[in-house]
Amino acid sequence: MLLSIVVSFLLFPSQSVAAGSPPGPPPRRDPLHIPVLRRRHVPRDRDAILDHYANLAAGLRGKYNYDSPVSRRDDISITNQDADSSYFAPVSVGTPPQIFDLQLDTGSSDLWFATTDCTSCGQAPELDPTKSTSLQVQNVPITMKFGSGAASGLVAQDTVSMGPFTVNPQIFAAVNDLSGNLINGKLSGIMGLAFQGIARTRAVPFWQALINDNSLTNPEFSFFLTRFVNNPNAMAEEPGGVFTLGGRNTTFFQGDIDFQSFTLPPGGGSYWLQTISSVTVNGKTVNIGNTNTAAIDTGTTLIGGPTAAVNAIWGAVPNSVPLAGNMAGFFTFPCKTQVTISISFGGPSWPINVADMNLGPVSNAQCLGAIFDVTVVAKIKPQPGLPVWIVGDTFLKNVYTIFRADPPAVGFAQLSAAAGA
Ligand SMILES: *[C@@H]1O[C@H](CO)[C@@H](O)[C@H](O)[C@H]1NC(C)=O
Repeated sequence: MLLSIVVSFLLFPSQSVAAGSPPGPPPRRDPLHIPVLRRRHVPRDRDAILDHYANLAAGLRGKYNYDSPVSRRDDISITNQDADSSYFAPVSVGTPPQIFDLQLDTGSSDLWFATTDCTSCGQAPELDPTKSTSLQVQNVPITMKFGSGAASGLVAQDTVSMGPFTVNPQIFAAVNDLSGNLINGKLSGIMGLAFQGIARTRAVPFWQALINDNSLTNPEFSFFLTRFVNNPNAMAEEPGGVFTLGGRNTTFFQGDIDFQSFTLPPGGGSYWLQTISSVTVNGKTVNIGNTNTAAIDTGTTLIGGPTAAVNAIWGAVPNSVPLAGNMAGFFTFPCKTQVTISISFGGPSWPINVADMNLGPVSNAQCLGAIFDVTVVAKIKPQPGLPVWIVGDTFLKNVYTIFRADPPAVGFAQLSAAAGA
């Protein structure tokens, strides 16, 4: 059967005929007479004309599904794993959807899932590529290095959703080999929330794809992260707070947001960078030097910094002791000491809860501190534009954080009572 559709624009009516042709010779018909419609009133002044035709076009796009998806923001509940070690949320992939818990990581830009082809992925629930009718694997091998290990696999693409948001197709890594200690428990991978420029897959990250197709109300996402490090009854999984994609939720913070802008390098890709302007230890400013570029990284548990600054910080804590061996770069301090450290990124000084600085007793009433020298092993010289600090959850639990893509900035605000402040 031949179906013919004739679209008629009512504004320019002449004649329109919709005809279906049955098989065989067409029956004879009388000529079809269609009365000429009277032209509707069309506005004459410029703004009214533009408005009128814009509405008309929008209506037509909607009718034929050429309209853009509705921009929105949404709160996504996250889970706190192993007393603030990592924070994850469910992400679905494929047709029919397979759902996995992925770490939300503002310190990397790749999306990856452990797959059923992986024998080294531990207990993680795994993406079965054969069970998705829409998954396409490209024969491009890829390796992604992280602080605590590496993940390798093949570049693939499929439809990916989180909350009410979908990107189709989304490029990701289908991981078939995992080394180190990248994911624990029921985690199946990582969703990188930094910029495309540092993605090993070179793919547009999920969150940036949503901005590009106008799915988000605002080009930003925000975090409220919970604290369980000081709760002796904490389970392996606890409520982790809220990830707001496409905006912020004023329920979780109060007062002004301290936005500090930063410059994306040419090519547009990087970490979420800030510059630490000052650090105080129990109210006293310590000398951290002048090179203090920091990555704001939800995917890092602690705070890593450069040698001189970390030494200066612990030097301000009486009876702190540097550790050696595989704990080189860490310090202990007397467990009865309350260590209050505050960090400023050019605006207000944000205090870190003493509970976050104390990772528990390790020897002779000495407790492990949560700020460590990240360069101590490699003695890497800082490179321009690359972060020497990695500001992780030890700090981020203490503030409401807004990651704003355009113009690029990170904003911190004081947590509200509803967010446990
Ligand atoms: C903000 O979070 C609260 C608590 O979860 C929720 O009740 C509220 O609907 C959220 N606000 C918006 C605008 O989504």
